Amino acid sequence: MTSTTTGRLAVLGGGVIGLSSAWRAASAGWQVTLLDPAPGSGASWVAGGMLAPVTEAWPGEEDLLALGVDSVGRWPGFAAELDAAAGRPAGLRTEGTVVAATGSGDRAELDALAAHLERLGRPTERLSGRELRRLEPAIGPDVRGGLSVPGDLAVDNRMLLAALRAAGEKAGVTFEARSARRVREDGGRVAGVCCAEGPDVDADVVLVCAGAYSSALHPTLEGLIRPVKGEILRLARRTGAFPPPRRTVRALVDGRPVYAVPRDGDGLVVGATQAETGFDTEVTVAGVRDLLRDIERVLPGVAEYALLEAAAGLRPGSPDNLPLIGAPGPDGLLVATGHHRNGMLLAPVTADAVLALLRGEPVPESVRAADAARFVAARSGTGR
Ligand code: GLY
Repeated sequence: MTSTTTGRLAVLGGGVIGLSSAWRAASAGWQVTLLDPAPGSGASWVAGGMLAPVTEAWPGEEDLLALGVDSVGRWPGFAAELDAAAGRPAGLRTEGTVVAATGSGDRAELDALAAHLERLGRPTERLSGRELRRLEPAIGPDVRGGLSVPGDLAVDNRMLLAALRAAGEKAGVTFEARSARRVREDGGRVAGVCCAEGPDVDADVVLVCAGAYSSALHPTLEGLIRPVKGEILRLARRTGAFPPPRRTVRALVDGRPVYAVPRDGDGLVVGATQAETGFDTEVTVAGVRDLLRDIERVLPGVAEYALLEAAAGLRPGSPDNLPLIGAPGPDGLLVATGHHRNGMLLAPVTADAVLALLRGEPVPESVRAADAARFVAARSGTGR
């Protein structure tokens, strides 16, 4: 992309990626308009808030692990800056994460994950069930072993969204509560945004970061981003019930993953189902049943908790589970989407990459594998 010192930036989407990028760009002097009918109300509102590159690592996804490890390292600085800029807490939690396994198949899978991480030079600490319970007494007797991963953190997603909105407003971001329909071009370069209602927005640069809804906004993204539904529950300890864990607990229960992320005030977010059923955000009976059944095996005390909320969000899935971050063309188009299960985790590194792209500077090394141009090149047969 042609380098411009500053100018008019339109940000399409007010989830964690759009809010983080808008705040960063406005702080760097860009005149930012963020278009979203209800910022912070989509997948980012539903997120559990795990910042867990290691405990969510999957063999074969080494580029994603490297990107996540880079971003989790940026989180403390990002949160401290945001706390100060917003005048309210960003919601970072630094107690760490434990992984728990129930059956022998689950333990074998954790052993394979630990061995894989060791081969990559990221050793984890293996623990017996008893050692796990010493760390987190809320973990029940069905858990036979696990791992401690102190570097995997968590964030209260709703505190974070409020802080990002406040910091964006203070930095001068204009929030327009309407939907973008598509990126507008003129003479082979981006000229602004056509909106579903109201006048078009003129811009020198448009950043598409509309999560699961990104594909419709520019032909470059057509067919690349798909919705992946996730259901979560919000629980709160009632008087007399066993205290929740302090760390995030991620678990395998008879092969099914489940997690519980602590919140202030003895709350827990329990997640998450995963299903590809289009743009469907209804919570299902089966989803709630599965989450409750599995989390009760790991944290038996939750049976006495209040069930406050059940919600569903749409993760933006990409063809290879890596996000699409970059300037794939035409001139003036930036994209930061396809963050799938990792939007919260990858917000700091993505916002830093967006700022680098705006300045015409190289993106952080870990972001290079996520260059959005990899799909554009594959489509046009240039084989980049
Ligand atoms: N990052 C956890 C999830 O997407 O469920």
